[in-house]
Amino acid sequence: MAILKIARMGHPVLLQRAEPVADPTAPEIRRLVADMMQTMEDAPGAGLAAPQVHVPLRLFVFRVRPERTTGDALDRTIGDTAVINPTLELLGEDVRPRWEGCLSIPGLRAAVPRHWRVRYRGVDTNGEPVGGEVSGFHAGVVQHEYDHLDGILYPMRMTDFSRFGFTEELTRAGAL
Ligand code: NI
Repeated sequence: MAILKIARMGHPVLLQRAEPVADPTAPEIRRLVADMMQTMEDAPGAGLAAPQVHVPLRLFVFRVRPERTTGDALDRTIGDTAVINPTLELLGEDVRPRWEGCLSIPGLRAAVPRHWRVRYRGVDTNGEPVGGEVSGFHAGVVQHEYDHLDGILYPMRMTDFSRFGFTEELTRAGAL
């Protein structure tokens, strides 16, 4: 396994639409997923999409630790998970701001409006289905990572630029 170099905002790979993965069970995809999980662990981060490691393919890895969940029944904890060739449905009208960071935009956080509830589907490296209906933090991470596959970074989703700043300053101000 290897820790991969993360593309930072401004790199064109982050703005392109990624291509579907032809064979999710291919050895090179399994290797990429393992490396992305190690890179996410090392960073550390809650999620990482393939374009962020200079690979314009439709896959991301993520996890939801118990301490990050909102307590909502659908805000499910999940261990390191790969989602390949995902679909995403935004459910309902409930949109709430959530604090987000991005490994491609180091040191910064912003309040980004996201759907509270979503349904996503994809497959893992065994070709087995993953996903379901989720809410809260889980739903927020999935929306953020899915956006990377369409070349969308969280600042492109922001509506309130007064809630955008350096993690260090926001923490000191008690905003986070
Ligand atoms: Ni990101």
